[in-house]
Amino acid sequence: MVQSTGPKKIKCAVFISGTGSNLKSLIRFSNKKSSPISIELIISDNSKAKGLNFGKIFKISSKVFDFNNKSFSEKKIIYEIKHKDIKLICLAGFMRILSKDFIKNFKGKILNIHPSLLPKYKGLNTYQRALSNNEKYSGCTVHFVNSRLDSGKIILQKKVKISKNETPKSLAKKILIQEHKLYPKAIRKVFNL
Ligand code: GRF
Repeated sequence: MVQSTGPKKIKCAVFISGTGSNLKSLIRFSNKKSSPISIELIISDNSKAKGLNFGKIFKISSKVFDFNNKSFSEKKIIYEIKHKDIKLICLAGFMRILSKDFIKNFKGKILNIHPSLLPKYKGLNTYQRALSNNEKYSGCTVHFVNSRLDSGKIILQKKVKISKNETPKSLAKKILIQEHKLYPKAIRKVFNL
């Protein structure tokens, strides 16, 4: 567990690849007085990620690394993170798999949000796979990141009921609403606040 050290907020980086709706909800959360975190850095592997706009709107420093040379990009990210004294990394729709070495550098300090009730439906296409299996429920999970995909210790989950005529799109929408509430809750849980 990461320890909170008094009233000072824990510096956090959020990694995104796309829309960044979870990033937005995390920024809103971090701006609350009672929040244990402050977001100091946004990292993206995609210069076209819509979510990068939130960096501009909320005046948070953003950096793009193309990941064509993964180990080079990761080295630069590690430098940035250590330089800024960042103690927590939140993956939020980040579509790259971080290397074992990278993860080792931040053991127990990287969280991810995934749109299924893990350990079910690791990886991609979670909505379609849940529907094809006639699941009654799906949902979302916040977990610690380890070197195996979507397999780290679960922090919190939220169940979502699958309706009769559910489509992958409608299910994704329902789950996303819950993701925005679950990620902040999970962060509070990690820091015992
Ligand atoms: C979310 O469904 C998240 O669970 C998954 O990628 C999606 C990101 O959405 N890992 P957004 O970019 O936060 O809107």
